[in-house]
Amino acid sequence: MKKDIYTLGIESSCDETSVSVVKNGREVLSNVIHSQIDIHKQFGGVVPEIASRNHVEAISTVTKEALEMAGIGFDKIDAICPTYGPGLVGALLVGVAYAKALAYALNKPLVGVNHIQGHIAANYISHPELEPPFLCLVISGGHTHLIHIKDYTEFEILARTRDDAIGEAFDKVARVIGLSYPGGPKIDKLAKEGEENINLPQTYFEDSLDFSFSGIKTAVLNLHHKNPDVNKADLCASFEKATTDMLLTNTKKALKHLNINKLALAGGVSANFYIRENFLKMGEKESIQVFYPELKLCTDNAAMIASAGYYNFLKGNISDLSLNAIPNLKI
Ligand code: KG4
Ligand code: ZN
Repeated sequence: MKKDIYTLGIESSCDETSVSVVKNGREVLSNVIHSQIDIHKQFGGVVPEIASRNHVEAISTVTKEALEMAGIGFDKIDAICPTYGPGLVGALLVGVAYAKALAYALNKPLVGVNHIQGHIAANYISHPELEPPFLCLVISGGHTHLIHIKDYTEFEILARTRDDAIGEAFDKVARVIGLSYPGGPKIDKLAKEGEENINLPQTYFEDSLDFSFSGIKTAVLNLHHKNPDVNKADLCASFEKATTDMLLTNTKKALKHLNINKLALAGGVSANFYIRENFLKMGEKESIQVFYPELKLCTDNAAMIASAGYYNFLKGNISDLSLNAIPNLKI
């Protein structure tokens, strides 16, 4: 019988300290997430120095809880898998240094995980039947990518944002209209009460599927400055409509280009209700199978890192103790 593989995922790239135990890449035994949102809220965004300090304070306790919840000890773990980029360098270093210490002390393999690969892998947990190849639209606070997932550890980027990530645009728009950090979920909620009655610019490039969100972000900011009484719910609904149209248009083109009928969404912004609903509608219309992670696995968590770690471990992508944090790590 094949031996079960247990991976320990460690995520500290931004403002969540999370540790998880995952069995065979798909079965979550524990996924403890210690969020710092309440600490950073008062500053209107993540303060890197404060994030690092809080990771240091939380990481041992969160790890202990994750093992207890999974009902196993360190001896059963087959690989220690920290996120090593992209992200905030000081925050990443906490998880990487902690994982290296564990790997050394326990004499276990260390597997550095790319955070974006983690977001993609969240879909493997929520959809046990999903296998590559497929197209993935990664939409988060730091990334907006269309990626061809050729195999579990083989990727080709088809498009990326040329300026702001979509989550960044959501958060900036939210801040200007007076919604607290993180703004994405607040826009999601308020938009449900509004009408898509404000015309906002959409940006496309000739001969490229790249994205750009700085134009629409600036248009919303100008509109709000000129007319502070503009209906916020309508503004949110119209902003969601225009950004979702841009995502849909380029994603449909990429699916056609690859001649693929399987699409997964990933990243914090894939928790957005309007985006989820409209991608499902598109899927029904165009006969595309659309997947997205359950809500808890859309935003940063260590289960997705443990899952991506599992596939890298199987592939033999083992890191050595010189593993370092790489803030702008590419997929
Ligand atoms: O994936 P994530 O947790 O962190 C990064 O890797 O960047 O994504 C965080 C982003 C934030 O910009 C947040 O506002 C956005 O995801 N977000 C949402 C929603 N939930 C989180 N954006 C729109 N609608 C949501 N429901
Ligand atoms: Zn993330």
